[in-house]
Amino acid sequence: MKKSPINVCLFPAAGYGTRFLPATKAMPKEMLPILTKPLIQYGVEEAMDAGMNTMAIVTGRGKRAIEDHFDISYELESQIKGTTKEKMLADIRHIIDKCTFSYTRQIEMRGLGHAILTGKTLTNFQPFAVLLADDLCVNNKGVGVLSQMVELYKKYRCSIVAIEEIDPQHTDKYGVIDGDEIAPGIYRVRTMVEKPAPSDAPTNLAIIGRYILTPDIFDILRVTKPGKGGEIQITDALMRQAEQGAVIAYKFQGKRYDCGSIDGYVQATVELYEAEKYK
Ligand code: G1P
Repeated sequence: MKKSPINVCLFPAAGYGTRFLPATKAMPKEMLPILTKPLIQYGVEEAMDAGMNTMAIVTGRGKRAIEDHFDISYELESQIKGTTKEKMLADIRHIIDKCTFSYTRQIEMRGLGHAILTGKTLTNFQPFAVLLADDLCVNNKGVGVLSQMVELYKKYRCSIVAIEEIDPQHTDKYGVIDGDEIAPGIYRVRTMVEKPAPSDAPTNLAIIGRYILTPDIFDILRVTKPGKGGEIQITDALMRQAEQGAVIAYKFQGKRYDCGSIDGYVQATVELYEAEKYK
């Protein structure tokens, strides 16, 4: 495995996934499959490719399937041993061999910032990545988004958010940044706002579910007041770092699918299927 300055990837995974009901009534949304792989496994693979080996998962009630997925299933494995199906578990076995998984529960849903703060005990007070598994990112032309961000971290040594240009009508679904472009596609963030109305949005540069955070974010989160939607927002905490010039926004290479929405989920399924078929 590659040596990386970032070892830990935090997966906030306590949300209810109400947009996918009834599918998510008894199953975590992070376990919804794109083809044969659950969303969270794509995320773990992206983190591994970026050199991370510690997967820290913030779960909630009804999320046990995630823990079971990243564990050995002796009964199943002895059933398929020696059959052609055995190879279908090869990737997940590799993940289990190479990574450590740890879990903590978010007792109350008080927002993404609160979920990240809940994960503090799993991060060893080191810089860490955050990956929102329902943003599925693929890059057919090179390395994954977190790998790209780790390279930037080596240079800037501060918090980094991945961004993309969105339709300006949709700013109210994202954290939106503004900043000075210090290199092509790389911004020193000056301001960031959580889910502004299009008329209030400083730009159409939206944060997607990939972050690298420096550990001082926890002290900031602890005193961050509830913001948009009455929730503790990571965007508001990052704004405190941005005031010190300590946040970079990065237009990543690749494509993101919003698998938290039905449209994005179906699009990801179709496009990954096509890619697989013609491989
Ligand atoms: C969260 C963040 C938002 C970010 C988005 C990316 O929102 O609060 O700033 O743009 O993730 O997916 P959520 O989608 O959880 O409402």
